[in-house]
Amino acid sequence: MRFLVGGDALIAPHSRDVIRYRGPMRASPPTFSVFYIANNFAPAYEIPILHSANKLCTIKEALKRLFFETPITIDKEGICMQIFVRDNPQQVAEVAGALIRAQVLRKPQSVLGLATGSTPIPLYDELVRLHGAGQVDMSRITTYNLDEYAGLAADHPQSYHFFMWEKLLSRIGMNPSQVHLPNGTAKDLDAECQRYEAQIEAAGGIDLQVLGIGHNGHIGFNEPGDVFSNRTCVAQLTESTIQANLRFFDSEDQVPRTALTMGIRTIFQSREILLIACGAAKANIIAQMVHGAITPQVPASVLQLHPNTRLLLDKEAAAEL
Ligand code: GLP
Repeated sequence: MRFLVGGDALIAPHSRDVIRYRGPMRASPPTFSVFYIANNFAPAYEIPILHSANKLCTIKEALKRLFFETPITIDKEGICMQIFVRDNPQQVAEVAGALIRAQVLRKPQSVLGLATGSTPIPLYDELVRLHGAGQVDMSRITTYNLDEYAGLAADHPQSYHFFMWEKLLSRIGMNPSQVHLPNGTAKDLDAECQRYEAQIEAAGGIDLQVLGIGHNGHIGFNEPGDVFSNRTCVAQLTESTIQANLRFFDSEDQVPRTALTMGIRTIFQSREILLIACGAAKANIIAQMVHGAITPQVPASVLQLHPNTRLLLDKEAAAEL
């Protein structure tokens, strides 16, 4: 499947901070889009982007220089996103497991970015199976999780620390020194975010990031907003996310309102991304993410620009594509 990016780009030459989407895009025929890349909304200048191979490279170069340090390659005709559709969540997990296995076979010391939520649970079961069957050796990987609730200690049953150890890490005999999640009980949460980001950088960045998607298009805990978040940061959860998370807690007042999350830029810098979605409830947001505007109102839409993102969907989640 190919997607065109085009339109007018407003680009602040020295900024690395945010990309802001303005205006409509992605209609048939493609309409114009506007990217605004600015440092604290500093004055920007305009580079017209037309729908030609040359001009698409201009977007690529702009993104590379101004926002993402990782070089990105955008196909001259547009952007390619690989989408795998399988009959059910178990088959999706098998594809995801095979792709992770391939990554770890290629690079035994891979840095894996991991996600929580119900969606990746079958994948974690599959990785445990592959590990147990001797088909992949996970002993040398390092893991970084996307996010953690603020205020929940690592031994809290609803914390993401707890989830990860229970669903995957202890089952493959991971050493705690190889496992990283933001510390939700740090005294200074902003400093903790900076520390976490620096740790990911020092590890050489993430080789392969597993993502789920929230019903509102959030990835990690990057909620819809006016700008794409940058680095690891403290996020306020939206009402829809609080409601979605309620199922894991005894009452609504126990659901954390705040979390620490890798930023969109942190996620985007992963060399490879596997976004997994299953079930009819995800069909609409998957269609928006794939076909809709690249906009911080649908945070996952930024992945249209990522050169190496695979979507792994069951039939129900793919129903509106
Ligand atoms: C939480 C997590 C996300 C996850 C989302 C969807 O908000 N922070 O990383 O993708 O839930 O969860 P589920 O897979 O249960 O639908």
